[in-house]
Amino acid sequence: MTYKEQLDYNRIPQHIAIIMDGNGRWAKAKGKQRGEGHIAGASTLHDTMMHAAQLGVKYVTVYAFSTENWTRPDEEVNGLMALLFEKLDLGIFMDNDIRFCVIGDTDRLPEKVRERMNYCISQSAGNQRGTLTVALSYSSKWELTRATKLIAEQVKEGKLAIDEITDKTIDEALCTSFMPDPDLLIRTGGETRLSNYLLWQCAYTELYFCDTYWPDFDEEALCKAIYTFQQRERRFGKTSEQIAEENSNR
Ligand code: IPE
Ligand code: IPE
Ligand code: MG
Repeated sequence: MTYKEQLDYNRIPQHIAIIMDGNGRWAKAKGKQRGEGHIAGASTLHDTMMHAAQLGVKYVTVYAFSTENWTRPDEEVNGLMALLFEKLDLGIFMDNDIRFCVIGDTDRLPEKVRERMNYCISQSAGNQRGTLTVALSYSSKWELTRATKLIAEQVKEGKLAIDEITDKTIDEALCTSFMPDPDLLIRTGGETRLSNYLLWQCAYTELYFCDTYWPDFDEEALCKAIYTFQQRERRFGKTSEQIAEENSNR
């Protein structure tokens, strides 16, 4: 039986975060340039968005380019920006009723990328079936620093008392305020680290690491990750017995 056939459709994660890693090694293994790995990776992103929507996943948040990725060779950075510009197609979001969002320090992106990106964001804002958020020029430390400044500003202006600051205040000051925390985080490409991605938001997220390079990540690989997630017990600090009782009272 396939993993897809074994899924419990009543327990599909609402939000999946993905670290799309392994494009470069995929290309190298095939004797190709790294850029070809990114092109193949863009196609995997398109397909994953479709599969996730079909499975009923409401939010998909992908790490496409980190703050640290700006330090890669100019040629690779420029190639990634050009690819982004080329692949940002409003039609895909409108045809599939998917809202497109971006999180990150987008001021650093080339202007023409930013313009096309903002156009897709505003035009797709009313779409309902699912939300694809792309983390671009993003890192958690950048985001948390920005949030801290926003909160400090509110305190300084007398709009917020220090005692009123709660974890919700921080949630709301993050770029991700419009989405629930991820239920499942998938990292492809074999590394078992978070690389500065959604550190606050993943406080209770189930982590799933697989060796598959991102361009080879297909529907069955996605279903395997979701199936693995469904075998786990999320306890949020409680005991197994408490969780069993809560489930029987549902
Ligand atoms: C992930 O693939 C995509 C980006 C970071 C832009 P990599 O480019 O990191 O691929 P590897 O890790 O070198 O294989
Ligand atoms: C993380 O991948 C960022 C993205 C997938 C966009 P990297 O390949 O840049 O991560 P590190 O530097 O190996 O941890
Ligand atoms: Mg990598």
